[in-house]
Amino acid sequence: MVNRLKDLEIVPSNQSLGAEVCGIDLAEDIPGEVVHRMVKAWERHHVIYFRGQSIKDERQLEITQWFGPRHAPYPDMPILGDVSQPDIISISNVTEDGLLGGGRLEPHQDTVYLPTPLAGAVMRAEEVPKSGGDTSWSNLIQAYYELSPGVKRRLRGLKVIAFNPYAGRSARRDLGGGQQWFGTQDSTPHPHPLVRIHPPTGKKTLWVSCLNSERLVGLRNLDVGHQLLSELKTHVDQDHLYYTHRWKQGDVLIWDNRCCNHKREAIPEGQRRVFYRSVIGGCRPY
Ligand code: SIN
Repeated sequence: MVNRLKDLEIVPSNQSLGAEVCGIDLAEDIPGEVVHRMVKAWERHHVIYFRGQSIKDERQLEITQWFGPRHAPYPDMPILGDVSQPDIISISNVTEDGLLGGGRLEPHQDTVYLPTPLAGAVMRAEEVPKSGGDTSWSNLIQAYYELSPGVKRRLRGLKVIAFNPYAGRSARRDLGGGQQWFGTQDSTPHPHPLVRIHPPTGKKTLWVSCLNSERLVGLRNLDVGHQLLSELKTHVDQDHLYYTHRWKQGDVLIWDNRCCNHKREAIPEGQRRVFYRSVIGGCRPY
């Protein structure tokens, strides 16, 4: 008998976020009360991971849907892996259909430019480079709570617009690689609250993506808005806000896109990295 509630252990990283989930074999049946504890751990720690797993795409999709609904794509808005809308995409520097290439990725939230950005994602590591390619997540709830009362007051009522790095004039070809698709049309801007609520906890989160956030809405002076956004990007990118994950083959990791930025180191030339990512649909930020 595996996956009993009494064998489940949640071990926090003792950094700003992240916890390892031990005592679980994801390939086997998991009772509902154990799944519930895993979902609660994700909501609380924002990144949870399981070591030494052996699952395939179909099981990954089942697991993904414990954390939220399937993402409903928008036909006119290109996102990563949007060409044929597969539910699982290969994030890899070597597979033919691999996305994101091998370069460094700046801190970002996924699909923050959509009306309903993703709630999160599940990533499984099939091949891991000997060095490099680590991914780090930062805690944007903590980032908000560390702002001074004066800055918090200044942010009230402001919105933020993010650009789509896979569309039109904003397209960043350096982020792609493989079969990355770039739309020819610019995306319609979708302003979201600069300080949004993290739905499961009700906490405020500073919704700034270093890569994508482009401009603030609600300030008369554009230069002031630009300066404020640049200061907030520096604020959310402080080292103490991050948990860095050193990937091992067989890892399955689930992150919360509603309150974290993530960034990735470059993958050294000649080293293979093959990961599979599935996504959790999100709500309109409020
Ligand atoms: C991503 O940004 O979705 C991928 C991160 C990674 O490759 O570690």
